[in-house]
Amino acid sequence: MKWNVVHNEDEMAKAAAQRIADVIRRETLRKGKVVLGLATGSTPIKVYEELVRMHKEKKVSFENVVTFNLDEYVVDKDQHPGFYNKDISYHGFMDKHLFNHVNIKPENIHVLHGMAEDKDAECRRFEQLIKQEGGIDLQLVGIGENGHLGFCEPNSPLNGRTSEVKLTQQTIDVNRQKFDFAAETALSMGLGTINEAKEILLIANGAKKAPIIGDLASGIAVANSANHAELTLDDPETARTLAQHRKNNPAMLLKYHSNATAIVDEAAAGQMLDRYKQPQPVAR
Ligand code: GLP
Repeated sequence: MKWNVVHNEDEMAKAAAQRIADVIRRETLRKGKVVLGLATGSTPIKVYEELVRMHKEKKVSFENVVTFNLDEYVVDKDQHPGFYNKDISYHGFMDKHLFNHVNIKPENIHVLHGMAEDKDAECRRFEQLIKQEGGIDLQLVGIGENGHLGFCEPNSPLNGRTSEVKLTQQTIDVNRQKFDFAAETALSMGLGTINEAKEILLIANGAKKAPIIGDLASGIAVANSANHAELTLDDPETARTLAQHRKNNPAMLLKYHSNATAIVDEAAAGQMLDRYKQPQPVAR
């Protein structure tokens, strides 16, 4: 896993957008299309702004881009009419921040349908489509404060596929306070689905993410400088520590992926750098 520590959120967004644009150009040249896995939440908003800017400047085209979003809330459509058009839903969020501003073909956009009558069939259809498209070339992920990826909460099976998952009480409460809905479940790619992406790009910014980013980096020898540092497994004790963390922190799967990069700003990297200078003893 590679780490790229940048100064602030703007630099994080620029670096991530640049990487996404590079993969779009490379794969479009190579095979005529590119398959992206996309994320929601506040972290990717500036990444999408940057991609929209690059698109307007004709630096990147979405004409041959196929997308799959990580997750979507499940709400009762009769109780929340129009939910999937509002930007609190992940459908609406993606339209507002990216899809409405670029030349992506509507038929190439895949966001799970939270209102589908048969949720299992919807999840199977989604997995099948990813396969049909030849897999995901680059998956963008944010990270929850507890390490969740998409809605794969701690202790999610590492080989899990797209399915309906229960949200934690904390997530339900946050939504109830912020919005007018309280979805209790969501449809989400599984960790196994995410892990199959050819490249994973994790983005995180802000001090709230410092503890989980610190956890993710802990137990690992940091070579070189913090910038673009390559983190490697160095001894059996580290390997045991990783195995333990991996169970609780879903983001640990990035450690085992052959092409994963985290782009984090200095605030989010705060505890990672401390641990680098002063490694924390980890309980077994
Ligand atoms: C939600 C999403 C995740 C996202 C996380 C963090 O739970 N399902 O995909 O990474 O929130 O969100 P934020 O970027 O707002 O911190």
